[in-house]
Amino acid sequence: MAVPLIPTGDPDAGSRARDLDLEQLEIELLLEAVHRRYGFDFRQYAQASLKRRLYRRLDVEGLGTLSQLQDKLLHEPACMERLLLDLSINVTSMFRDPSFYVAFREKVVPALHTYPFTRIWCAGCSTGEEVYSLAILLQEEGLYDHCRIYATDINENVLATAREGVFPLDKMQQYTQNYVRAGGKREFSEYYLAAYDGARFSRSLVENVVFAQHNLAMDRGFNEFTVILCRNVMIYFDRELQDRVHTLFHDSLENFGILALGHKESINFTVAASRYEALDADERIYRKVS
Ligand SMILES: C[S@@+](CC[C@H](N)C(=O)[O-])C[C@H]1O[C@@H](n2cnc3c(N)ncnc32)[C@H](O)[C@@H]1O
Repeated sequence: MAVPLIPTGDPDAGSRARDLDLEQLEIELLLEAVHRRYGFDFRQYAQASLKRRLYRRLDVEGLGTLSQLQDKLLHEPACMERLLLDLSINVTSMFRDPSFYVAFREKVVPALHTYPFTRIWCAGCSTGEEVYSLAILLQEEGLYDHCRIYATDINENVLATAREGVFPLDKMQQYTQNYVRAGGKREFSEYYLAAYDGARFSRSLVENVVFAQHNLAMDRGFNEFTVILCRNVMIYFDRELQDRVHTLFHDSLENFGILALGHKESINFTVAASRYEALDADERIYRKVS
């Protein structure tokens, strides 16, 4: 267990260190209990943001201590569902980082045209905006009919939204701008119908998509892929868990397969670094070379 650094000469330093140690221990016990009871493994999530979210849940539930939160989590599955939503940080958008999609069109699409059939894994797909964006790009590039997209996330709730394909109407202006900057070739509004409950995206975009729950921290690979997209997910994992996931991805990618990460993520300094070359280092697009 990491002992925090306390300046020497501080008379309260010892007791603060003990408090922090105790808090750390309580967090570890809570995560262990959640793992045993529900199988969700957050033990290797980055500590600072994990702690913030646990305390936020503790406040919202009107509780006073971490052990009370642990007790409630173990006895009320609905509370666990709420914590899962807190921890899984589902922020996403259509054509997020438009420059990534420009690079994907220029550097990945030509390679995909050489394959008769392409399996793509979109890991940590959240509410599906990324999947619909990818499907639009693949349709426009004449590739969609030769592709199957496996879109997975740890969180069943976000997957339900993804399957529906209805996104808030007030986001469409921003998504249209993203789409244009991402090199979109049509009118963005051709892909959805404005309905009372939001922008309802064309079902043709998900004809070749399989949505399924999959936990990157615990589950095994389930197929061999030409492309794996895992953007803005591993940023919440510690180094050890990142290495686990990189090993899983490397094993799941065929030779010369493509791995795409988020703008704040990198293959550098991970266990798989030497096994990829950068197709576009700025856009975090890599090709498996060994
Ligand atoms: C910030 S969102 C990223 C969504 C999308 N990839 C994007 O870039 O816009 C992170 C997603 O990772 C999912 N996630 C977190 N931990 C996971 C795990 N262990 N296994 C699978 N998905 C996970 C969350 O549920 C969330 O939907």
